[in-house]
Amino acid sequence: MDWTMKSIQYAPNAITGQVDSLGDEFSFEFNILAGNNVRFRLHEKTLLHPRYEAKFSIETLETAVYDHQKKDGLEIVTFGSSELLIAYAPFSFEFKVNGKSQIAFNKNGYFYYEPYRAESKIPEFAVVKEGEADEKLNEIKTKIGKDLGSESFGGKTDSKPRGASSIGFDITFPNSKHVFGIPEHATSYSLKSTRGSGAEYTEPYRLYNLDVFEYELDNPMALYGAVPFMLSHKVGSSAGFLWLNSAEMWIDVEKSTDPSVKTHWMAESGMVDLFFFLGPTQNGIFNSFTKITGRPQLPQQFATTYHQCRWNYNTEEDALEVDSNFDLYDIPYDVLWLDIEHTDGKRYFTWDKVKFPHPKEMQNKLANKGRKMITIIDPHIKKDDNYHVSKKAKELDIFVKNTDGSTFDGHCWPGDSNWIDYTNPKGREYWAEQFLYKNYEGSTPSLYTWNDMNEPSVFTGPEVTMPKDLLHYENVEHRDIHNTYGMLQHRSTFEGHLKRSDNKDRPFILSRAFFVGTQRYGAIWTGDNTGEWEHLSMSIPMLLSVSIAGITFCGADVGGFFLNPDAELLVRWYQLGALQPFFRAHAHIDTKRREPWLFGEPYTSLFREAVIRRYKLLPYIYTLFSEAHLTGNPVMRSMMQEFPDNELTFGMDDQYMFGQALLVKPVSKAGQKSVEVFLPQESIWYDYDTFELAKPKANLIEVETPLDKIPVFMRGGCIIPRKDRQRRSSQLMKKDPYTIIVALDSRLNASGSIYVDDGSSFEYQSGDYINSKFEFKDNTLSAKHLPLSTPMDVKGDFNVKIERIVIVGYSNEPAAIKNSNGKDLFFGTKKVGDCFTVTIKNPEVLIGDEWSIKFKGNSKL
Ligand code: GLC
Repeated sequence: MDWTMKSIQYAPNAITGQVDSLGDEFSFEFNILAGNNVRFRLHEKTLLHPRYEAKFSIETLETAVYDHQKKDGLEIVTFGSSELLIAYAPFSFEFKVNGKSQIAFNKNGYFYYEPYRAESKIPEFAVVKEGEADEKLNEIKTKIGKDLGSESFGGKTDSKPRGASSIGFDITFPNSKHVFGIPEHATSYSLKSTRGSGAEYTEPYRLYNLDVFEYELDNPMALYGAVPFMLSHKVGSSAGFLWLNSAEMWIDVEKSTDPSVKTHWMAESGMVDLFFFLGPTQNGIFNSFTKITGRPQLPQQFATTYHQCRWNYNTEEDALEVDSNFDLYDIPYDVLWLDIEHTDGKRYFTWDKVKFPHPKEMQNKLANKGRKMITIIDPHIKKDDNYHVSKKAKELDIFVKNTDGSTFDGHCWPGDSNWIDYTNPKGREYWAEQFLYKNYEGSTPSLYTWNDMNEPSVFTGPEVTMPKDLLHYENVEHRDIHNTYGMLQHRSTFEGHLKRSDNKDRPFILSRAFFVGTQRYGAIWTGDNTGEWEHLSMSIPMLLSVSIAGITFCGADVGGFFLNPDAELLVRWYQLGALQPFFRAHAHIDTKRREPWLFGEPYTSLFREAVIRRYKLLPYIYTLFSEAHLTGNPVMRSMMQEFPDNELTFGMDDQYMFGQALLVKPVSKAGQKSVEVFLPQESIWYDYDTFELAKPKANLIEVETPLDKIPVFMRGGCIIPRKDRQRRSSQLMKKDPYTIIVALDSRLNASGSIYVDDGSSFEYQSGDYINSKFEFKDNTLSAKHLPLSTPMDVKGDFNVKIERIVIVGYSNEPAAIKNSNGKDLFFGTKKVGDCFTVTIKNPEVLIGDEWSIKFKGNSKL
């Protein structure tokens, strides 16, 4: 389509104008946003039906100042070190940062927009002329359906009463070889090409939330969640792009040798609502993306620990036996999960009275050990007038509707069901109220929620989901809101949890479906994976892709949902899952039981060790989550994120960084005796288990991997806070003292931070937290509050002692170590390889104090 810009007007908050194409008129609007970002929207002049705006995804929009001029026939808008260059005919635009081109729109001329058409404007081929033979009429009717383009697929018909309304355009990332993101797909982190010479896939990536049975790996097919966000990266800069649109979407990726990555985006309906993130750093983009679409929620401490799940723990006795076996086998865990079988006939918010007769007592038994329980609450409501949730929802008229206004019926776990319309404020409110203790009988404050099947999964629907022509609030078609449905259930559940605690307790909600902004409401997992080695490996690129799309709290079912992993695979998966953001073991109802003690030794001990490693690192992990909450920086990071100028890391997704300090590489094959690890030469590295300095050759090191070992390296220059005492749950560790591990870099410097709060409430928002920076520099280790300007009065009982400080990579034995009062501190030194590890016992400081410790008598320092 030929697009021409007819006019442009500049105002402080918006740059507006007119474009037209083939006689259709549109207005456009650019907003220059704070943080080096730009939004672009397009509106049809004469709208037959409203275009759906995915408004639930936007949290904050702040405009920024800009200048503009006309030069060489282009409109040029400057802001900071960035420029937006707009061309008149064909209408297209491009962004430059520091003079270098980063992203371009419509450079390839793929911009295409189908306005809703009144019947008089239906395409030429579809108009039946007087006197035309009946066959011709029938042929056309079959071709386009009875009205404008109804479509049949797999025996299901989409009536498409409003006709076609698709949108497409191209986005080019000049001088890039790699693009990332657009989750959720089971594919590599650096996205493979789907077009052009050497294309690796034959179909574009699809974004359409679906419940896919036994999903295939290395495939662009749609899965449970959708975030139309793409990142590109090259040495020196990154750029991001978001199409805020919740309709079905397809994205082609073409890699050219110029080099550039050309992408072609197509959606069935919705709006042109585009965000350009100009970085130029990855962290800057993640910060902007989560500022605009919402910061990741700060999870409760318990949510960051180990979770035990299975479809299903069958009875109260079963659940309590699993719980006590963790104690018997000395394995910490925090959360026991109950799947759909715990309900009375898959009626959510109820309990099977025979199998779970005392839900409150059961939860309290767990709570006494600091543990929580999670029940599954799906969005399909069993059609049953005797079921209070169904009856009331029907009365309130908050179910999703058919085109004729009647309530939509479909099948899911309970059989005949209806679906709450979460786009309706009344639907969201009603849903939220179900979580009040008075409504959810048998629930207690230690019960949290799992939202599944919220793509939504409809067993009898097209592609196992809702027909696209169903109607939501204000007659919005399902096709327009499809990808946001799950997020709105997640949101309503989140709001329900806030309500039940009078806004005092941070909710924990796990969702399977997700969309732009899901991170505000909790965690997601990658759905029904399989207990095979390839699925273990695939968890890394999948979680990296989800993480950069804002959803930093994510995980994959440890062990794999389908099939029966053998003990070796399961151990390897625990070792990996323990170092991913959300750590939960889960299994299908038809699999053999696989709780960690069922395999005997040496396996039970190996599971225990993996879980304990997680628990020791909780202070570090919680600090990472707080960073994600403040800046959107993912907990799990690609090698490329931490080493953005090292091209060798760009396509790397078989290892990753867990925060900035730990490098993790899984053992991903049966019987694998050793694993080759890439250690970027920008840093020095220590083996996390032995503290030995690594000696890679040309960035590579071969690590022996007996069953009790996966390669984990500490990056020189980092400081890691830990709690090393073993307890049954994280709550019981609350008052335990800290261990601080200081891994020196080659100049004998290191820095790191700690964030601590009560781990559960919102008191941190009124300043009740500890956030300190540790630094080792000039022979001195110090702790200072962050931000330095905030005086801190820690009321919580979480300001506890540091019991041990371990300095790794020291070049000699220090003669003395003194605290700030000049008092000698007791320490021990151990030679590890070529370096020394110095351990200070009881440095007599609290984690929330400001302090410094001096190292004396080492000439080499
Ligand atoms: C879906 C979920 C799975 C759950 C099952 C039963 O398959 O993805 O985790 O166990 O439903 O609720």
